[in-house]
Amino acid sequence: MISLDHYRNAFMQHLEAVAKDRQPDNLYDPVRYILTLGGKRLRPLLTLVSCDFFGRPFEEAMNAAVAIEVFHNFSLVHDDIMDQAPLRRGKATVHTKWDLNTGILSGDAMLILAYRYFENYPPEVFRELAKLFSQTALEVCEGQQYDIDFETRTDVRLEEYIKMIEFKTAVLLGAAMKMGAQVAKASDSCCESIYQFGKNLGIAFQLQDDYLDAFGDPETFGKQVGGDILSNKKTFLYIQAMASANPQEHKELTHYFSLTDMEDHKKVAAVKDLFEATGAASAIKEEIARYTELANSELERIKLADDKKEALRQFGAMLMKRSV
Ligand code: IPE
Ligand code: IPE
Ligand code: MG
Ligand code: MG
Ligand code: MG
Repeated sequence: MISLDHYRNAFMQHLEAVAKDRQPDNLYDPVRYILTLGGKRLRPLLTLVSCDFFGRPFEEAMNAAVAIEVFHNFSLVHDDIMDQAPLRRGKATVHTKWDLNTGILSGDAMLILAYRYFENYPPEVFRELAKLFSQTALEVCEGQQYDIDFETRTDVRLEEYIKMIEFKTAVLLGAAMKMGAQVAKASDSCCESIYQFGKNLGIAFQLQDDYLDAFGDPETFGKQVGGDILSNKKTFLYIQAMASANPQEHKELTHYFSLTDMEDHKKVAAVKDLFEATGAASAIKEEIARYTELANSELERIKLADDKKEALRQFGAMLMKRSV
């Protein structure tokens, strides 16, 4: 396994410098708060590893890695407003610790701060990175809108759900890896394959996120367990449960997902039981494994030494088993 600590330690020093001395505090305190709240730092580590694996010192990808993580945190601040989430990384979300306007404006500032990190690259690299970033950021917005639209729809198909998570989550993991490859000036085909690897891993990652949202351990998960159920999110668990439910289970699920005023813990417990009884909870595990395998098969197309490919496979395996 590659030692991720090596990359993480270097990365954290750069992240801690973001908006360090900027004023006014009412704008930047929430930025500094969310950026230092913890988090796995998966996306920037992927950028650094990718640059390293494609033959350039990982430090060269540091600005792109910071941009990716600041953008990710911006998306979390706004996502928590949209999802009415009370907890993030075990602490109060920005809009609950401050207020809604603070969450909106500090989030906006982070989006711009992120973009500025690309300005540190020479013009031709800047152009490529900025182009990929803009495309990815727009897709994240589109995915987020589908996610919200689906809350009030009952006929969401599995393909629509997969497209939604591809946009809201997976493309950013793909872009994180591709940026590392772009900084290292890897070939177009390597850039495309590593993007596909990251994207498929990202789909598996969001499926696991959806699983943990229902079945994670409230002591360690860091987010409100059952939040997706309370918001009537149409995740794989719901779509699969509806597809394999018997008539009675189907009726019950339909009932719970039309409610907004039932006592929280009762609704979450009842829906989780149905996710298990219908087999959806085990089906999602198979789907996670399938997308991880799909990611691994992309590695066949890439010119990389076997030990590096193995390290990337192990990274995917680690994500499948994560509990946070
Ligand atoms: C949370 O991402 C948002 C999703 C796309 C599921 P992470 O699980 O990577 O969040 P942190 O940064 O580690 O807290
Ligand atoms: C997050 O999806 C996607 C983005 C932040 C763009 P979720 O809403 O499932 O993420 P969490 O569970 O709140 O981290
Ligand atoms: Mg959310
Ligand atoms: Mg969300
Ligand atoms: Mg989630």
